[in-house]
Order: sequence, then C-alpha cells, then structure tokens
Amino acid sequence: MKLNLTNSVLSSAMIAGAFAAVTFAGPLLADDYFTIKDKELERPTGYREWVYVGTPVTPNDLNNGKAAFPEHHNVYIDPKSWAHWKKNGEFRDGTILMKELVSVGSKSGVSGKGYFQGEFLGLEATIKSKKHFPDDPGNWAYYSFSSKDHKTLSATAKPFAAASCNSCHATAAADDFVFTQYYPVLSAGKGAGMKASGGHDSDLRNSYVEPQKSN
Ligand code: HEC
Repeated sequence: MKLNLTNSVLSSAMIAGAFAAVTFAGPLLADDYFTIKDKELERPTGYREWVYVGTPVTPNDLNNGKAAFPEHHNVYIDPKSWAHWKKNGEFRDGTILMKELVSVGSKSGVSGKGYFQGEFLGLEATIKSKKHFPDDPGNWAYYSFSSKDHKTLSATAKPFAAASCNSCHATAAADDFVFTQYYPVLSAGKGAGMKASGGHDSDLRNSYVEPQKSN
C-alpha cells in the first residue's frame, strides 16, 4: 500500500515535470548551452551533467612515447542536441560538444593492467552554428580553454581558424565533422529514439528522478 502511494506520488511528480518541460521548451533559443560575446565563448559550466558519449585515448606507450594527444578525452553533448540526435540522427544547429582532457593515471589496478583516468588537464569545445559561423565548414567552430601548462582553464576562448582544427575533422570524422566512430553512445544512438538511451521504451521511465529516501 505504501509502495503504491509512493509510486503514484512519483508518477504525478514525473508527469508534472514532463509538462513543465513542454511548457518551457518553447521560448528557449538554439544556443541554450553556450554564450558567445564578441566572438568569444564563455567557458561552459555544468557539462559533466550533460550526456556522456565516449572516451578515446591514444597513450604515449602506444605511440613511441610521443602521442600528439596522450590523454583520455571524455566527450559530452548538450542534452537538447542529444534529444535531437536520437530522434533525427543529425546534429542540430546549436549543438555543443565538450571534450575534457584527463591524464593517463595509474596503469595497473586490481582488475589488471590498463589505462586508468588520472587528473583533469584541459577542456575543448566545438559548436555548430549558422548564425555565429556562417563561413566555417559545416558551421562548426573549435575552441580550447586549456592553458599551456595544463594547470588552469581560461574564462573565455576565441575560435581557432578553421584550418588549424577543422581539416582533420573534415577528412576523418564519420558524421558531420564529429568523430562519432569513437563515441558508441552517438554511433549506436543515431536516430534510434528511446533505444539510444539504453533500451527503455518510455520517456517517463528515462526521466531522472531524485532517489527517494527509504524512511
Ligand atoms: C590530427 C587531427 C586533428 C586535429 C588537427 C584536431 N582534431 Fe579534434 N579530434 C581529432 C580526433 C581523432 C578526435 C576524436 C578522438 C580523440 O579525441 O582522440 C577529435 C575530437 C575532438 C573533439 C570532440 C568532438 C568531435 O568533434 O569529435 C573536439 C571538441 C575537438 N576534437 C577539438 C579540436 C580543436 C579545438 C582542435 C584545434 C586546436 C582540433 N580538435 C584539431 C582529431 C583532430
């Protein structure tokens, strides 16, 4: 009986939440998840709570001790663009992907030898926007907030010239300049609807609900 009551309270809260999302979805602008002023991107916050898509790593040990990018790259997409991706299988205008650099830490654990994540080392971003980058290939621009010594992050960043970043992405990335081939959440989830989120079949079941205290 207690359980039923809890469930029905929970469902009402979830339904109310769903309505709130619908009600407030209208006026939001395409660039909800980033702010660009005078071409400079303010460092986005809260991205570790966006949708995590994958972690490529090219460690020094496998690259003669001098990998171009020796760290782990944890990649996140903003939730609105994720919703668009799983429904339509494309990156909407206004997509932002964040790539957080994390050192290779320990190389052995109780589970065996490997590459475990260590410290946060830097932060990069790419944004697709016709309005802000009408002349860039695919309307994608690239940013870095990492300092040279990888110890601090800048508060804002200027976009790189397309030639310094975009060429690799243009020639080798699987989908619209994004390396989706290394992000299983995106490659498996492309246009896959609710299955993209892990096999559930209803929006409500996928909504995050604050865990209830048991007493
Ligand atoms: C040598 C080729 C190359 C160049 C040049 C390059 N990238 Fe990338 N980039 C990659 C690869 C490969 C990945 C995916 C695998 C990884 O992260 O190791 C990637 C992934 C990314 C991602 C994650 C989203 C995505 O598009 O897959 C961001 C953000 C990014 N790069 C930013 C930059 C920035 C900023 C620059 C310019 C300073 C840059 N890249 C230049 C090869 C390149």
